[in-house]
Amino acid sequence: MVMGFGIDIGGTGTKGAPVNLEKGKLEADRFRIPTPKPATPEAVAEVARQIVEHFPEAADVPQIGVAIPAVVQHGVARSAANIDPTWIDTDVDALFTEVLGRQVHVVNDADAAGVAENDHGAAREEHGLVCVITLGTGIGSALINAGTLVPNTEFGHLEVDGHANVETWCAASAYEREELSWAQWAERLQIYFSHLERILSPDLFVVGGGVSKNSDEFLPLLDLRTPIVPAKHRNNAGIIGAAALGERG
Ligand code: BGC
Repeated sequence: MVMGFGIDIGGTGTKGAPVNLEKGKLEADRFRIPTPKPATPEAVAEVARQIVEHFPEAADVPQIGVAIPAVVQHGVARSAANIDPTWIDTDVDALFTEVLGRQVHVVNDADAAGVAENDHGAAREEHGLVCVITLGTGIGSALINAGTLVPNTEFGHLEVDGHANVETWCAASAYEREELSWAQWAERLQIYFSHLERILSPDLFVVGGGVSKNSDEFLPLLDLRTPIVPAKHRNNAGIIGAAALGERG
């Protein structure tokens, strides 16, 4: 069995677990530590170290993957929409590699979730163009064509229907903050996914994020020509995909 280790850094919690890379499954229950405040790269790297040390079986894993809610270009964070601004321009590969004492590859959280869904989840049978959208505090996106990830698509920051930054209007946080009904939120999602469909013509949409567990409430309300399905790995997709991308380096 090829074992990897994935860590997913979120706004409130940082979670990690050893991952069976062949099966795309957690090898143990994940361990969570609240994301420190302020969530500077150094403080979060220290929490990541504690998470790895929690698992004795992680001692032999040579390469670790870390997912963060930011653009990560060749190991350097380039944005910080919902995280501490000090991440911008930090060489996060180098920082985490030093703190964790082994090779670490840092990737965008939605890219990680997308790879997990593509390789072992809801898009496993689809070999064309897959667009994974995570609905959470913000909106994350992953675009995977025939198994190859196009990294750092930021479809949560498109301007759609007069909304300059569509995630502030369509994310799960907007549904909660504005106390929308499922039907009201689905009206917004309809406009958003129709727009994505127009510009991308994907073969499949996969919808992730915590709210995907309630997908029965809103996905059936959408009328698209592209099939749209909930993510399979839900909250573990970031960990599983980070471990896979970490191993690829
Ligand atoms: C960020 C993305 C991230 C998404 C989900 C967005 O605000 O710009 O990089 O993938 O939130 O966390």
